[in-house]
Amino acid sequence: MLVSELREKFIKFFEKNGHIEVKSSSLIAKDSDSTVLFNIAGMQPFKSYFAFEKDAVKDLGSDKIVSCQKCIRTKDIYEVGDNSHLTFFEMLGNFSFGSYFKKEAIKLAYDFLFEELKLSQDDIYVTVFEGNSDIPFDEESYILWEELGIKDIRKCSFEDNFWGPVGKTGACGVCSEIFYKGVEIWNLVFNGYFKNEKGEYVEMEKKCVDTGSGLERLCCAINGYTSVYDLDVFSSLMDFLKRESDICDEKIFKIIIDHFKAVCFLIADKVLPGNMGREYILRRLIRRGIRYENKVHCGDVFGYILNFFVEKYGDAYPELKDTDYIMSIFKEEEGRFLKTLDNGIKALKKISEDKKTLSGEEAFHIYETYGFPLELIIEEVGFDIDEDEFNLAFDKHREISRKGSERKFGGHGIKDEDGDIRVIRNHSAAHLLLQALRELFGEHIYQKGFDINEERLRFDFPFDRKLEQDELKQIEDLVNLKIKQKLPIICEEMDTDLAFEKGFLGTFRDRYPDKVKTYDMGGWSKEICAGPHVKNTGELGEFKIIKEESSSKGVRRIKAKLIN
Ligand code: ALA
Repeated sequence: MLVSELREKFIKFFEKNGHIEVKSSSLIAKDSDSTVLFNIAGMQPFKSYFAFEKDAVKDLGSDKIVSCQKCIRTKDIYEVGDNSHLTFFEMLGNFSFGSYFKKEAIKLAYDFLFEELKLSQDDIYVTVFEGNSDIPFDEESYILWEELGIKDIRKCSFEDNFWGPVGKTGACGVCSEIFYKGVEIWNLVFNGYFKNEKGEYVEMEKKCVDTGSGLERLCCAINGYTSVYDLDVFSSLMDFLKRESDICDEKIFKIIIDHFKAVCFLIADKVLPGNMGREYILRRLIRRGIRYENKVHCGDVFGYILNFFVEKYGDAYPELKDTDYIMSIFKEEEGRFLKTLDNGIKALKKISEDKKTLSGEEAFHIYETYGFPLELIIEEVGFDIDEDEFNLAFDKHREISRKGSERKFGGHGIKDEDGDIRVIRNHSAAHLLLQALRELFGEHIYQKGFDINEERLRFDFPFDRKLEQDELKQIEDLVNLKIKQKLPIICEEMDTDLAFEKGFLGTFRDRYPDKVKTYDMGGWSKEICAGPHVKNTGELGEFKIIKEESSSKGVRRIKAKLIN
């Protein structure tokens, strides 16, 4: 069965059973809090109907809805390349906003799978919530499945069988999952609770149903495929790469197809590549895709993939048909990326001259100066590198930075003395300075070194020439503008991966502990940093550059101070 056929079958089946179709929302999550960047589930665009903040009958024409929603999940980006993980996928779902509950939802799922799709019951098992101290065993679902003749019913814990909310608050509830040949193909969520700001699960008066079935996964199950890449929406792309490429690496082909597919849909939904949040995710997907595209030597793979997806998805998602626009955004970002790569590679070649081996120290220097990951140095330039020595150089650097910040802040909280507060203000100003430099001169700029005291801040960054007077003025003006705008400074601790995903800058990408502290200055400057900082950029006074000089080869130094 084709993916488009299954999509249509699902929608038609639920329409026949009294549901109204709502077309997919954009990938950009609008109705959610800021912790969710993209729609990751079919229910998300309906979040406020689940909470009864809005009236579904009034707005959508029914309290029974069916949809096929475009989704993006990037949590498992490093799993992409296997047979099942996809960054972009579609989620089929039927929803009840206070209309039907468990009985009807289970019966509808049963009818669709066994009567409409004619799957074999022998290969099925279902799960129900086993109960815990707060929420009881879902006996009702257990009995309902039993009555329908399902033999293998398993009880599962809160971790597996409780879904939601998306974001910090919202509707959530126990679920019952359906597995076919060991693969989860449908999740029925019975939204009986609302998780509030305090983190409490409050039972809802009117209950809802949210179901989600990954279209690609379900289609695989029906067709008896073991890999999503066997589906019609992927298989000829795989064939193309297998045929045209001079390398034979299916994992690489899958990553390219997966990433570029997500890129096509994201650009079609008007996301632009950039440094933060959604933009950063798009940038990362484009750049990662290009790196792999460069390995397969098949010419313009992105163009080929884009045209293919327009053919496959153009009817369901007409926004994809604007290929000129999608191509132009992609090409622009590609240009920027290739330039960064080029500069790094040139520098690398120059440093190493006719050597075949880089010492760990030298590799670390390249890594630090150009933001060039070690794997890229090895892959792109073909050097042998002593990784242990590289790691040693890395640890040494980190130790120096740690000692430096301990010296500044005593390793503990902030002492409420004038001196320390002045140091903190200079520290916050350094963050604004970095962002100003990046905005004015490019994203390759990062903090190569810095030092702060009560009087001034000193900031080193990779740059290959002297800055002109008018450029220094521009930097000052931009920093002062951000001070005038009185941006709130928010500190949050989060998983390191999430921090990068959300666009927080950190020099040592792969070397942080699992959790890091992040500082967000009004969404403009975002850095991973141990702190401390002031609470608002408005506390900083006027920013003035005192000096600009060379620090070492290819590194400039700015000294600046804050005038009250
Ligand atoms: N919202 C539920 C899920 O994504 C159905 O699994």
